[in-house]
Amino acid sequence: ALDKFHISPEYGFLLPDPQTELPAPYRPWMDLARSLPDLIATRQLRAHVHQAPQLSAAQLHGHRDLRLAHLVLGFITAGYVWQDGEEGPAKVLPQNLAVPFWEVSRRLGLPPILLHADLVLANWRQRDRAGPLELGNLDPIVWLPGGESLRGFVLVTMLVEKAAVPGLQVPLGWVPLVPPAPGWPPCPLADHVDPDTFYTAIRLFLSGWRDNPAMPAGLLYEGVWELPQAYSGGSAAQSTVLHAFDAFLGVRHHEESSAFLHRMRDYMPPRHRAFVEAIQALPPLRELVLSSGNEALHCAYNRCVTALAAFRTRHIAVATKYVVTATAAKRSRGSPGTSPLQAAPSRPEQRGTGGSPVLRFLKSVRDATREALLNV
Ligand code: ALA
Repeated sequence: ALDKFHISPEYGFLLPDPQTELPAPYRPWMDLARSLPDLIATRQLRAHVHQAPQLSAAQLHGHRDLRLAHLVLGFITAGYVWQDGEEGPAKVLPQNLAVPFWEVSRRLGLPPILLHADLVLANWRQRDRAGPLELGNLDPIVWLPGGESLRGFVLVTMLVEKAAVPGLQVPLGWVPLVPPAPGWPPCPLADHVDPDTFYTAIRLFLSGWRDNPAMPAGLLYEGVWELPQAYSGGSAAQSTVLHAFDAFLGVRHHEESSAFLHRMRDYMPPRHRAFVEAIQALPPLRELVLSSGNEALHCAYNRCVTALAAFRTRHIAVATKYVVTATAAKRSRGSPGTSPLQAAPSRPEQRGTGGSPVLRFLKSVRDATREALLNV
């Protein structure tokens, strides 16, 4: 069952021991990817991309080559589009980048934009391969600006994926339903990501070109499509983990959130998406627990739902600190010539990098989780 879903018994949805080098002909891509933070800081990335040769994806063989190529091209694309800041996004992705990115994406069944599956699932390496899977022994393969905060953002998220692995073993039938231990979930992001660095240096590069007022028309992939395309930016909603837990526990999301979450499945590796669909095709656990009349089972189920809701409450706190508060601070500083009074009331709701209305979405998802609790 595991191979079929590209799930690792040890690493879950993470790509195990990701490849860090592309085959030799792709050296120009790797060189660009390795210099991204510098090229972005000096605003030279676009010029370097324009000088790069157009390579065919034909010499990429197998899933691991393709995943690294998607990661590398996704990062270069994000850097290319947002190099000059939110005010000056590129509207056209040049052919030498757009065509191979589209080819690689088509072969993987993924959209041509930087994804959670790139930034987090396939973007980690161990310094000491025999050492532990801990922050101090890990690095991202490809970096954006943001230094240590970028490292923390990528790798803490990666470790959350790793922490979810025991939970994935339940629907696979390997272990019985065991609620998480007290003290879960941990919240280590705060110690490793500086909110100001996240907001000012990192976040923009996770943005997409759908539901984003900075790019209302989308992005033209030159040489691929005649018309600009709209793709959502990276978001934890693209992580298969929570979709799998919701499907297994029978959490039913409210209409607007449910539509967004469903759309985010198109941004997951197709086999991971198939895993969520396979869980949904199982006899519904919630009904089984309900009709069992077994009090211990009721209790265990409710503790799982409570833990999932608690995790989502933490997510609201993290988003408030890193996104909502930071946005409010930026607005109150205002731009030259704008008084704070003018700036405040008419602003649209704060959106996440994936395009959802951050707080409304996260609260609705948390509340829907609580609604799954059984009355006992
Ligand atoms: N989705 C997160 C944000 O909006 C990364 O900042």
